[in-house]
Amino acid sequence: MSNNIESVLSEDRVFDPSEEFSANAHVKSLEEYEALHKRSIEDTEGFWAEQAGDLKWQDQWDQVLDWSDAPFAKWFVGGKINAAENCLDRHVEAGNGDKIAIHWVGEPGDTRDVTYAELLEDTCKFANAMKSRGISAGDRVLIYMPMVPEAAVAMLACARIGAVHSVVFGGFSAQSIVDRLGDSEATAVITADGGWRRGGVVPLKKNVDDALAKYDGVKTVFVLKRCENDVEMQDGRDYWWYEETADASADCPAEGFDAEHPLYILYTSGSTGKPKGILHTTGGYLTYTNSTFKYIFDHKPDSDIYWCTADVGWVTGHSYIVYGPMANGATQVMYEGAPNFPDWDRFWEIVAKYKVTTFYTAPTAIRAFIKAGDEHVDKHDLSSLRLLGTVGEPINPEAWMWYRDKIGGGRCPIVDTWWQTETGGIMISPIPGAIPTKPGTATRPFFGIDAAIFDESGNPCGPNEGGKLVIRKPWPSMLRTIYKDPERFKETYWNEYGDTIYIAGDGARTDADGNFWIVGRLDDVLNVSGHRLGTAEVESALVSHDDVAESAVVGRPHEIKGQGVVAFVTLKGGVDATDDLKKELRNHVGTEIGAIAKPDEILFADRLPKTRSGKIMRRLLKEIVAGGEVKGDTTTLEDHEVVAQLKEEFDKAVHS
Ligand code: WT7
Repeated sequence: MSNNIESVLSEDRVFDPSEEFSANAHVKSLEEYEALHKRSIEDTEGFWAEQAGDLKWQDQWDQVLDWSDAPFAKWFVGGKINAAENCLDRHVEAGNGDKIAIHWVGEPGDTRDVTYAELLEDTCKFANAMKSRGISAGDRVLIYMPMVPEAAVAMLACARIGAVHSVVFGGFSAQSIVDRLGDSEATAVITADGGWRRGGVVPLKKNVDDALAKYDGVKTVFVLKRCENDVEMQDGRDYWWYEETADASADCPAEGFDAEHPLYILYTSGSTGKPKGILHTTGGYLTYTNSTFKYIFDHKPDSDIYWCTADVGWVTGHSYIVYGPMANGATQVMYEGAPNFPDWDRFWEIVAKYKVTTFYTAPTAIRAFIKAGDEHVDKHDLSSLRLLGTVGEPINPEAWMWYRDKIGGGRCPIVDTWWQTETGGIMISPIPGAIPTKPGTATRPFFGIDAAIFDESGNPCGPNEGGKLVIRKPWPSMLRTIYKDPERFKETYWNEYGDTIYIAGDGARTDADGNFWIVGRLDDVLNVSGHRLGTAEVESALVSHDDVAESAVVGRPHEIKGQGVVAFVTLKGGVDATDDLKKELRNHVGTEIGAIAKPDEILFADRLPKTRSGKIMRRLLKEIVAGGEVKGDTTTLEDHEVVAQLKEEFDKAVHS
C-alpha cells in the first residue's frame, strides 16, 4: 500500500484529450467543466431540476429537494415517473423502436440483437405475467439471472409495475439467496434454468430450489429456459417464462410512481457479517444515472456502441447497463460469459465484431489481460474504440498505461470512475473531453457533487494530506436508507461530521490540481476483483463450520485480484489441522457466500493475537500477511509469541 501511495504522489504523466475528442465532446474544455461545476454547486437544485427535465415525468415535481429530515433525503417531491417508460417507451415513441438496444453474445457463441421495440414488448409481456401471478407495486422480487437480455427485461418489468427488484449476482450461493430473501421478504423469484460460464452450466434454478427449502415466503418462481439443463419445477410455485408470456398482452400501461417510490434493493458488504440492503428510489436515481452516463461516457446516441463488462448483479450493471444507458437510448453489447472463454481474446473479438466505441471494465480484468499476453489483443482490430473506462478499485499506473496504449491505441481518454453501491452513480471521474487524466486518479467530482477530504476533526485537508473522503451535499441517486434499518444507515454513513456529511468509507487525498486519489477502504471491507467483501462475512462463514472455533480474515495485495483473502483459523479441540480440511473450509465459504469469497490462503493457528480485553489484533495480522516486518506495537498483547509463530507459518505457507 505504502509503495502505491508514493508512486501515486510522484505521478507526473498528464494526458490531455485530443483536440478532436474535445471538439466533439459534450463538455469541451477544463474551463467549461469548472464553470459548470461551480454553477452546479452554487445552485445545486437548479442544476438537478434542469437535468431531470431530460426525462419524461407523468406529474411535475413541486420541490426539487427536501433535506429537512437529513440524512433522509427526498428528491423531486410530488413528481410521478415510470423508470421503464423512460428506458423504453420514450425511445419507441420518438421513432427509435428499430434501434438496437442490446447486441447480445452468449458464451457458447449464440447471438441476438434486440431492438428497443422488442425490449419494450418483452418487458410489457413479462410485467403482465407477473401481474397475473398477483405481484404488484411495492412487492419485493428477487432476481437471480445469467447475463441475458431477459435479466434487463426482468428488472424493467419490475420497475414498470412498481415492484422492487433485488438482484443477486449469479455467482452467489444458495445461502446468500436465503439471507437476501429473509431480509427483503421477497415473495417472488425470477431465475433461469442455468447460465453459461467457462463452458459449463451454472445451476441457477437448483440454487434457488436449495434456498427455497430454507425460506418459505416465496409464492412464485419464474424460470427462463436458457441452457436446456434439467431442472425440477414445483407445481403451483414454479412457472416457465416462455409459457407465462406466450399469451400475455404486450400492452401494459406504465403507471407513474412517486419519485421516491423504491426502485431496488441491492445488498453489499459492510463491516459486520450481515450485508446491507442499499435502497434506491426512482426519480432521483434515474436523473443521476441518465446524466452521468451522458457526460462521463460522452455518449452520442447516433454513433456510439457501448459495452460495460460488469454483471447486472452489481450496482455497475444496474446503473450502467440497465438504467443509465437505456434512459439514454444507447446501443450496447451484453456478454454472458467469462473473459477467457474459449480464450483470452474473447473481449477483443467482440469489440472488433460490434465496433464498440466505449468500453467500461475493471482494473482486475485489465491486470488479467496483461498477464495473459499481448498476442491476444494483437489479433483484433480495436480501432473503433474512442473512450475507455474503469471502475471498482484504484487502478495501478502500469495497468492504466497498458490500457491506454494497448487497448486504446494511445488515442482514447480513460475515465477512472469512483463510486459505490450507495452512491448509485459515478461521483468522481474525468469528464473526458474536458479534464486531463493522470494514471491512478479518478480526477474531479461530477456536477453537483461536493467532494472533500476531511481530517479527524472534520476540517478539510490540504493538498496531499490523507484523510476521509466525504460528500458535503446530497445528490439525487444517493441511497435513501439501509432497508428496514434506518439506524444503521445513520451510524454507517453520517456518524462523524453531522447529519449532512456523507462518509464514503474510503481514504483519499487531493493533489495540487484538485484531483482526487482514492487510496482504499478504511473499514474492514476488502476489495477482491473490484467487489466488496466484508472480512466479518467471511469470518462468520468460517465459524459456521463445525470444526472451526474462531477466525480472523484480512486482505493482502494480490497481483490480479487487487486484494486476496487470508483467513487465520483456530480449530476446535481434537480436530486435526490437515490440508483436506483447508480445502473443505474454502469450499464451505464458497457454499456460504460464493466463489469470490473463498480464501486464497488459510492458516491454522493455535491462538490469535488479542488485546488484554480480548479483541483480535487485526492490524498485526495485516502486517503479517503484507510480508514485511511486524512493526506494530505488541505491548498490549496477551502473548507476544503468537505473532512470531503466525508470521513463520505464513511465510512457510506462501513460499511452499
Ligand atoms: C468501493 C465501492 C461502484 C461500482 C463498483 C464497486 C472502491 C470503486 C473505484 C475507483 C478507487 C474505487 C472504493 C469504493 N472503488 N471504484 N475508480 N478508484 N476505488 O462498488 O462494491 O459498492 O464498492 O469500491 O473503495 O468505496 P462497491
